[in-house]
Amino acid sequence: MRIILLGPPGAGKGTQAERLVKKYNIPHISTGDILRSAIKDGTELGLQAKEYMDQGQLVPDELVVDIVKERLTQPDTQHGFLLDGFPRTVAQAEALDANLQALNAPLTAVLNVDVAEEELIERLTGRRVCRACGSTYHIRFNPPTVRSVCDKCGGELYQRSDDTVETVKQRLAVYRQQTAPLIDYYREQGILFTVDGAQEIDAVFQEITAILNQQQ
Ligand code: AP5
Ligand code: MG
Ligand code: ZN
Repeated sequence: MRIILLGPPGAGKGTQAERLVKKYNIPHISTGDILRSAIKDGTELGLQAKEYMDQGQLVPDELVVDIVKERLTQPDTQHGFLLDGFPRTVAQAEALDANLQALNAPLTAVLNVDVAEEELIERLTGRRVCRACGSTYHIRFNPPTVRSVCDKCGGELYQRSDDTVETVKQRLAVYRQQTAPLIDYYREQGILFTVDGAQEIDAVFQEITAILNQQQ
């Protein structure tokens, strides 16, 4: 099972990924998570990425393409993987295609999680993330049992620095300009499936797994 989760910021890629990787027992590869962890660790990559991310801009293609290329050489990707937030430009998609062709590992499906913009702003500004395990919550739509505390590990919940109204609007504009063209890119390859991401979290998950079960 080799899957891409495509969709605008806040569509629920990370939320669905948490569930999907458990069900299919495949690694979750999120370039956003990799970059945030590099920033936290103060690595060279983190220093390069931080400015772009704080402004809601994409990090240069070369940086992320190299990260994913390296990650796909790890043995845990042999039986599949889930890419979340990558590719995000046509250039990244072309680099990934070349890489997967060399690995003889074609994609199973690209899931396009579709949600209207007004809803995305509310989702992102209300999002909270666990500092310890990375689980995602929402103050209204998916609240933790105890305020600011992760249900799964007891870790502290925080708000991502790019989840302010202003940066969210910028990220949505970048999505429209640079990432939305990937919908046609994968449609032309015949592997695009659009999912209604405006439903409840469990209903979105059901819709995705129904599609994936038909692809196996
Ligand atoms: P990244 O971390 O990938 O962020 P993003 O694409 O903006 O997406 P999000 O993580 O914000 O949203 P999501 O779809 O995962 O939603 P979630 O499940 O959390 O990238 C961050 C930055 O890193 C980029 O801006 C860029 O600078 C850089 N970057 C990363 N990858 C890159 C690349 N390939 N190339 C270049 N630069 C790159 O859900 C959101 C909220 O909604 C949560 O609170 C959740 O609880 C709630 N929610 C989820 N589903 C539902 C539902 N069905 N109903 C109600 N609420 C829901
Ligand atoms: Mg995410
Ligand atoms: Zn946690």
